[in-house]
Amino acid sequence: MKKLLLSLVLLVSINTVKADEGMWLPMLLGKQVYDNMVKKGLKLTKEQLYSINKSSLKDAIIIFGRGCTGEIVSNQGLIFTNHHCGYDAIASASSVQNNYLRDGFYAFNKDQEIKTELTVQFLLRIEDVTKQVQDKVKGIEDWTERTKKLQDAYKSITEKVADKENGISGRIYSMFKDNQYIMYVYQTYKDVRLVGTPPESIGKFGGDTDNWEWPRHTGDFSVFRVYASKDGKPAEYNKDNQPLKPKHFLPVSIKGIKDGDYAMIYGYPGSTNRYETSYGIKLKNDIENPSLVALRDMRLKYMHEQMVKDPAVKLKLASDYAGIANYWKFFDGETKQLIKFNTYEQKQKYENDFQKWSVEWAKNKGNREFMGVMGDYQTNYETWTPYAKHRVYLREGILGSPLSAFASSLVPLEMALSKGDANSAEVKKALEAADAARATFLENEDIPSDNNILAGVAKAFYTDIDETQRPQDYYEKIAPYGDLYDDATYKKWALDVFVNTMILNDEKWKAFMAAPTASALSNDPAYAFASAFVKNYNEKYAPLFTTFNNKNNELGHFYLKGIMQRDSVAASKMYPDANFSMRVSYGNVKSYKPRDGIFCDYITTAKGILEKYKPGDYEFDLPNKQVELFKKKDFGQYIDKNRNDLVIAFITTNDITGGNSGSPVIDGNGNLIGLAFDGNYEALSHKIAFDKDLNRTICVDVRYVLWCIDKLGGAKNLIDEIKPIK
Ligand code: ARG
Repeated sequence: MKKLLLSLVLLVSINTVKADEGMWLPMLLGKQVYDNMVKKGLKLTKEQLYSINKSSLKDAIIIFGRGCTGEIVSNQGLIFTNHHCGYDAIASASSVQNNYLRDGFYAFNKDQEIKTELTVQFLLRIEDVTKQVQDKVKGIEDWTERTKKLQDAYKSITEKVADKENGISGRIYSMFKDNQYIMYVYQTYKDVRLVGTPPESIGKFGGDTDNWEWPRHTGDFSVFRVYASKDGKPAEYNKDNQPLKPKHFLPVSIKGIKDGDYAMIYGYPGSTNRYETSYGIKLKNDIENPSLVALRDMRLKYMHEQMVKDPAVKLKLASDYAGIANYWKFFDGETKQLIKFNTYEQKQKYENDFQKWSVEWAKNKGNREFMGVMGDYQTNYETWTPYAKHRVYLREGILGSPLSAFASSLVPLEMALSKGDANSAEVKKALEAADAARATFLENEDIPSDNNILAGVAKAFYTDIDETQRPQDYYEKIAPYGDLYDDATYKKWALDVFVNTMILNDEKWKAFMAAPTASALSNDPAYAFASAFVKNYNEKYAPLFTTFNNKNNELGHFYLKGIMQRDSVAASKMYPDANFSMRVSYGNVKSYKPRDGIFCDYITTAKGILEKYKPGDYEFDLPNKQVELFKKKDFGQYIDKNRNDLVIAFITTNDITGGNSGSPVIDGNGNLIGLAFDGNYEALSHKIAFDKDLNRTICVDVRYVLWCIDKLGGAKNLIDEIKPIK
């Protein structure tokens, strides 16, 4: 009996370990949040987390490229980030002969490092500019007008801190839906070189089948280095540049982790909308997500067909394919989880309570500011909903064909030409831009897949979008090819587009560039197609979307202001939605129960990789050398002694989202223990609703990262540079 009781107590305590909601501003940590971090296992002072005067953790965290996070791991500017963050740079550095994407790559000395087009940004400081911003929009009631003025205000405030020579610029982030404004000041470095990457079979092990899921065995890391001029300033690529001496770098710990250990994640989460309304969720679940998923499904199918046939095509399409596939699965899973969690119904209840409160508030305080918010939301969504599908079909369908997307970028050229002066400065500029953009487009264009996509999306738009919204004239051009409900019709038509467009024909393009006219452009079949849809949307539906969007922002502002008024204690514990500004999230390494009857361990190991391994498979293949080493259990100093195995990945309770990819997972002492690279399927609704029981962050263990670099890649030079802590 006593024993039973004891295990009951244990069970309860396991179940009360909750995931840790909150993406906090590291520079504005409240006492309560900091105290909680300490309670969970943090050993560092606030000053060590973020300081303006001394070097601190934040100085080791960077914006990597355009949408990821990275961290500095040596005193010579060495960077760790995810493989999927370095993916595009790795694919661009690869050729069929030197296929680094497929085979991996390591620089054994600095001369072998490869130039990229990437940038990295360091955060220098932040400033609360709420008062300055609000002063500039004071008294402007009209939200459209206010939105415009806000941009001017941002510009005039950031101009004051800009210092081009030193790569310094400010960016203002609206927090709590335009209730607070914070300026982050960054320094941007432009000489970033590829230092190492595992083969794709490791970096993307499990592919899209395993993506967004636990248990996971992906070695999702890549290695770069940031360079500066001799005097340490940001500079364009130059072989005389020197590795940057960072203000701080993260020591790398190979001591290993246990279930329950403290875990902290710094980084740049891109977007959340935790105060999304039931109306927004309904639109998403009923229209936006299923439309996006269906269209991406089709595009992915056509791309994949060609990628498996030819390594050159695979290299061309790989990066786009990965990006499309990533959010195809995300949005599919998001809707499934929102439905599972009854998020719509929960939001409705919350909104009803808010509505009741707002009436009380008006009665008691004479402030009617919040009273109409919910009703206005309803009207606003009702007005926009009939066109929502059209917008997704344009962006994900019509413009999902690379040819069509490029053609649509020529609309400004047509406008310039139609003014009649083919020699005007405007025309010249547009022509130059078009010529350069075409060259880039052609580098990545795969005609067979695009041809199928074009036919597919043209038909989908016809069959799925309300006929009153179609660019009807355009379908009259397709009608001669056959029945508009028949696939074959669109196939014949698309083939004609591809054969005849000047965009894919150097001779015709040159002739056009030499004597450009608006009518020549309009008569081009690819341009005629793309521009018909884009113009139709821009003229009739884009203004409706802008109105919808501005109204939503306005309502969001008052909704959140009301929520904060209603409960000032709760408000003091609120964190702003993610918006790609630096955040810190804290939690623990933690196992979980995804479904009834299933327990998920907090780590995965080499044993599991071998179980998933399928020789020759597109997603589950492995380098032969890895299989050999794993079979021999040759894990070197990276072995996990408790499991007598190599730990591959682990999960934590942290609150992160897209943009955090590549983020450092940091232990209680400020050491790097892993790289965050994904979220779990059971909590894919996390952008809107964070689930305390099911939410997990998926991280690659830094011991596996170092094992790959050292044992598999033979890049001892990097291990010597990193000097892991044992
Ligand atoms: N789901 C990951 C993220 O968004 C990206 C993983 C990339 N891998 C892939 N198979 N597409 O951060």
